[in-house]
Amino acid sequence: MDNKELKDKVLELKEKHNAVIVAHNYQVDEVQEIADIVGDSFALSKYCSTVSCKTIVFCGVHFMAESAKILSPEKTVLLPEIDAGCPMADMVTADGLIEMKKRFPEAVVVCYINSSAEVKAESDVCCTSSNAVEIVKKIEQKNIIFAPDQNLASFVAKQVPDKNIIPWKGFCITHHKIKAEDVVKIKELHSDSFLLVHPECKPEIVEMANFAGSTKQIIDFATKSKNEKFIIGTEMGVLYKLKKNNPNKTFYMMSQGLICPNMKKTSLASIYNSLNELKYEINLDEEVRVKAKRSLDKMLELSS
Ligand code: 13P
Ligand code: SF4
Repeated sequence: MDNKELKDKVLELKEKHNAVIVAHNYQVDEVQEIADIVGDSFALSKYCSTVSCKTIVFCGVHFMAESAKILSPEKTVLLPEIDAGCPMADMVTADGLIEMKKRFPEAVVVCYINSSAEVKAESDVCCTSSNAVEIVKKIEQKNIIFAPDQNLASFVAKQVPDKNIIPWKGFCITHHKIKAEDVVKIKELHSDSFLLVHPECKPEIVEMANFAGSTKQIIDFATKSKNEKFIIGTEMGVLYKLKKNNPNKTFYMMSQGLICPNMKKTSLASIYNSLNELKYEINLDEEVRVKAKRSLDKMLELSS
């Protein structure tokens, strides 16, 4: 089947299964084109908690589809590529977190949405990169275990200095590899550009940026900015919306290697297969789901 036929079939199957296609900002262009909504982790979880449909096809990585299922257990949630995981989410386990909680029994546990349902179930509140600072500011207690991203933890700690943030030492394999010397070089090359980065980058990279935020916040910042040139320090999938919203602005990738291989697994063909065979369905242990939902609900309650 060519792309046109695939698109027609997907639209037919969507209707048949009363489905919505949800895609993260890092998905390939053909997936973003056909999706009903494209956004950051926060926008997508909010959408999944309120949309009325029978089936959600989640084009992203495993923890995102899991979050949709946690919030909407009555819906069939499909992840088109079952091997699309997030290595950072895999860096923390529920058992590991339980051990850490024993060492800091008075601490509140904030877990980044990039985590498994089991880890969310052991946490007090979830956050995304778009609301982590806001959430931590609203917590009364001083001591906060923040898992699993050490870089987002450090981003939050700098902006909320009255809290004692105890980081889990996880990181994103895509963002963590950006080196300060490469940033210096590209900034010299494009000195009239603004540098926009994701807070999953190392603290020294965030220090050098004009703005750090979630994928949606980066896209919004560039769209509203009077500046015309930007260096992008996050996964290259954001270029699709950046260019679409800003046809007259110029975007330079910080490096051509800023690719999340897991986000790139999903294609139009995988969406077709997913809807055609209703695979791969996300199912969760009900006790874990209910406990995990508490921390996601708390996030939704605390974020404006
Ligand atoms: P956003 O919530 O900013 O879209 O980020 C998700 C993610 O996995 C970043 O690497
Ligand atoms: Fe996980 Fe990093 Fe990929 Fe985001 S970019 S899904 S944090 S590996």
